[in-house]
Amino acid sequence: MNPAALKGRSLVNWKDWSPEEIRYLLELSHLAKKSSRNGDVHHRFMGKTLALVFEKRSTRTRCAFETAFGEEGGHPVFLSTQDIQLGSKESVEDTARVLGRMFSAIEFRGYSQKTVETLASYSGVPVYNGLTDEYHPTQVLADVMTLQEAFERVEGKQVCFVGDGRNNVVHSLIIICSKLGINLTVVCPSQLSPRPEFLKECELWANNSGAHITVSDSLDAVRGADALYTDVWISMGEESQTDARKELLAPYQVNDALLDRTENPSCIFLHCLPAVKGQEVTASVIDGPKSRAWDQAENRKHTIKAIMLATL
Ligand code: CP
Ligand code: NVA
Repeated sequence: MNPAALKGRSLVNWKDWSPEEIRYLLELSHLAKKSSRNGDVHHRFMGKTLALVFEKRSTRTRCAFETAFGEEGGHPVFLSTQDIQLGSKESVEDTARVLGRMFSAIEFRGYSQKTVETLASYSGVPVYNGLTDEYHPTQVLADVMTLQEAFERVEGKQVCFVGDGRNNVVHSLIIICSKLGINLTVVCPSQLSPRPEFLKECELWANNSGAHITVSDSLDAVRGADALYTDVWISMGEESQTDARKELLAPYQVNDALLDRTENPSCIFLHCLPAVKGQEVTASVIDGPKSRAWDQAENRKHTIKAIMLATL
């Protein structure tokens, strides 16, 4: 793997990143965390600028990009779509052309995956997907980093995602697990199963890495899990489906009883956050001893820094 080949690269999802490239980003993430814990001062983004375009709310992603970029001497600029012309009277293509003339890189969080892909095609600078309806690639790099901290080897470990099986986080988890040889079971009601054509697309990567990617509507499928992972039942933009989702997903809450059903006393709990405690997870689990959710949140910053160090 030639790190120089990553310069200028965008991250719109993990589909066009090789397992070696993803592993390299993970190595860089661990180095960035060590360096930050040592209190090292670098200025590796000195003289660079980053546009942070947000259509949807964010705590972790925005703060991770701003702090990772700023503490390395770069200048991040937050642009809410409530304020800029994008989405009202200027096209995505024209916005991309203009931002690309002024910024070294662009982060985008919003609804349509097409928007982030168009920004990447027209801006001429690296574009990072900070979450769309379809994917959340920077999140799952932090998730794998957290798994690496918990277990010596992540290859062959069994992660169970429990909840809404067709949201952005699950899609990105399926791709990254397929590429890195991590076994993933998506436990969800059949109405919310990942789409077969998407699973088919990931099959080749899983065959190459040896990952087993499975889907089940039975909670028995959590048996043997090394990590239980959940996310909100109602993702941003899906608020009109609140009642139906609550009804459908009520049996899939991650609680102490479900952790016991793993029959694995070392099983850890993951959540991308924000969490609705009492809905997809109980407070006893997320605030309990098995939870790694807060490490996961911190790791967003180190992994995002690594992505920018590699591509800028
Ligand atoms: N996990 C995550 O992306 O959190 P935010 O929505 O706060 O950015
Ligand atoms: N699936 C969630 C993730 C939040 C980080 C959402 O899209 O709202």
